[in-house]
Amino acid sequence: MTIILDGKKLRDKIFEKLKSRVDSMTTKPSLAVILAGEDPSSQIYVNNKKKCAEKLGINSIVINYPENVSETELLEKIETLNNDKNVTAILVQLPLPNHINKFKIIDAISPQKDVDGLTPYNSGKLFSGEEPYVYPCTPRGILLLLDEYGIELEGKHAVVIGRSNLVGKPIAQMLLKRNATVTTCHSKTKNLADITKTADILISAVGKKIVGENMLKNNCVVIDVGIFRDENGKISGDVDFDKVSQTASYISPVPGGVGPMTIASLMLNTVELVK
Ligand code: GUN
Repeated sequence: MTIILDGKKLRDKIFEKLKSRVDSMTTKPSLAVILAGEDPSSQIYVNNKKKCAEKLGINSIVINYPENVSETELLEKIETLNNDKNVTAILVQLPLPNHINKFKIIDAISPQKDVDGLTPYNSGKLFSGEEPYVYPCTPRGILLLLDEYGIELEGKHAVVIGRSNLVGKPIAQMLLKRNATVTTCHSKTKNLADITKTADILISAVGKKIVGENMLKNNCVVIDVGIFRDENGKISGDVDFDKVSQTASYISPVPGGVGPMTIASLMLNTVELVK
């Protein structure tokens, strides 16, 4: 029988504990989110982050900029937030408008306030196997979900589809740290199905329907990071859920799987950055 990896249930459990932790803190966490441009998905994500923070007693501010904001303006704001003792966590929502160099912007965030774990300091620590201040939110959420269901990682073949800085690269490193054997695939990978068929754990973070029923061996653990609207406007993931769930041992749904875990990790990271 296939077990559904219920991200909402685990998120709620994490939130319950976090709420009492925040209640007992003398220095309250405070999250500043920078949102540049009018990307509708980003606006929804950012609103959701703010709502969750408030529910937990975490202060949050969203700083909105128009699409044509300059790099200098963003850099100056980050500098101000880095020096603001009342701000303990900074998040720059991605994607940024095309004319902005995202690396320059992310590099400007103080590593101690880098709630996404994306700065060179934190990603460098992660890649060298040391402890960053925090781990990137979606990969952390995926591991929390796998651990909650007691899914063993050591010695398992984990196949990751996607090589983004937000998900694909960090989750591969984090799985390696947990002694999985990791293969990273991407848009130029040849014979993808030949590789995915050898996966004990498959993590897909592509953003289009890519994982079908004939691509997996029986009893694979399937984690779907993709979330987008299909041609009928329905929220969908990378995985053909109805077919793949016939043979998977565990599968994360979209929505209700990795999405809530990303938010849960963001809130955990925000709280943990308070010193
Ligand atoms: N855009 C989509 N997911 C994320 C995330 O986890 N962090 C940031 N900063 N931007 C995102």
